[in-house]
Amino acid sequence: MKPSAESDSTELMDLLLSASGPLSGAALAERFGMTRAGVHKRIQALRARGYAVSGTQRVGYRWVGPTDVVDPAVLRRGLVRSVRHAGVTLSTQDDVKKRAALGEPEGYLMIADRQRSGRGRRGSSWVSAFGGLWYSLLLRPAGPPSGALAISLVAALDWVDVLRARGVPAAVKWPNDVWADGKKIAGLLVEMSSETDRVEWMVLGVGVNVNNRPPQGTAIPAGAVAEWTGPVRRGGLLADWLDRFSASYAVYKQKGFPAFQRHFERRSLLTGQTVTFDGQAGPEKGRVSGVDQDGRLRVSTARGPLVVSGGDVHWVRPVP
Ligand code: BTN
Repeated sequence: MKPSAESDSTELMDLLLSASGPLSGAALAERFGMTRAGVHKRIQALRARGYAVSGTQRVGYRWVGPTDVVDPAVLRRGLVRSVRHAGVTLSTQDDVKKRAALGEPEGYLMIADRQRSGRGRRGSSWVSAFGGLWYSLLLRPAGPPSGALAISLVAALDWVDVLRARGVPAAVKWPNDVWADGKKIAGLLVEMSSETDRVEWMVLGVGVNVNNRPPQGTAIPAGAVAEWTGPVRRGGLLADWLDRFSASYAVYKQKGFPAFQRHFERRSLLTGQTVTFDGQAGPEKGRVSGVDQDGRLRVSTARGPLVVSGGDVHWVRPVP
C-alpha cells in the first residue's frame, strides 16, 4: 500500500529530528521514492502546520524545532519536581514507569513531541503526532489503589476546566476522556503498582490533541483543541493544567473525591443518560444518576441501583 502524505510527513519529521546536519532534497526524494518537488511540497505542509524547518532544496533541510517549543523549565511548577522533554520517544508512559520502578520521587514529568508507540486504555494504540501534548506524570498517592480512579477523574475534570477557560466546550466522559462537540479530544491512562492497601506508584498518562490533525476514521470521532482556539502553545496549556491539578491534588489529599463530586457530575456527559456497561453477567443497561464519593458511576437499572467502577461504558443515543 502506498504510504499516505500524512505518514510521509511524520517519517520526514523523524528523519529531520534525528539528523545531525541538513538533509539534501535529493537524499530525501530517494528515501521517500518521490521527486524533489514532492519533498519540497511536504516540507511546505510541515511549515504550514507550524514546524520550523529551515533550508532549501539546494542546501538541504534542517529541523530547527517546532515553532511551539515546550520549555521544560516553565513546567517545573506545583507538584512537578523534575521534567524531561524528548523530541521522540516510544511512549512517555513506559519511560516514566521505568523511572517509577527505580524509585523516582513523585512529581516526575515526561513530555514528548511525538510518540512512536503511544498507548491508550484497554490495549489500544494512541496516535501521537507532532503538535499534540503527550505526557506522563508520576504520583505516589497515600491510600489504597481504589483511589486511583478518583485521581484520574479529577485530572480529567481539570482538563475540562482548563479548556473551557479557553473557550472549548469541553466535558468529561466518565471515567476520564475529554470531549467537545461530540468529539474526543483527550484521554487519560492510569497505570500503577500497588499492594492490597497501598499504592507504590501511579503513572498518569495524558494525550491531548492540540495543534495536530486528529486521527481520522476512528470508531470514536476525534477532535483537537485548535479547532476551537486556533494554534495554541502547548507549554502554556500544560502549565495551566499543572497549576490546576497541583491545587486539586492537594485538596484531594485532604478531603477526598467528595470535594469534586458535584462539579464532576455537572461537567459529565453521562449524567442523566442511558448507558450500557459491562455487568457481572454481560452487558447491562441503565440510567446514570451521577458518581459516588469514590468516583464510581451510579446507574439505575431494572434490578436496582448499581455502581460501575470500570470497563467500557457507552451511551445509548436517542435515535434522531
Ligand atoms: C485513552 O484515551 O485511551 C488514553 C490515552 C492516553 C495517551 C497518553 S499520551 C502520553 C502517555 N503515553 C502513552 O503511551 N499513553 C499516554
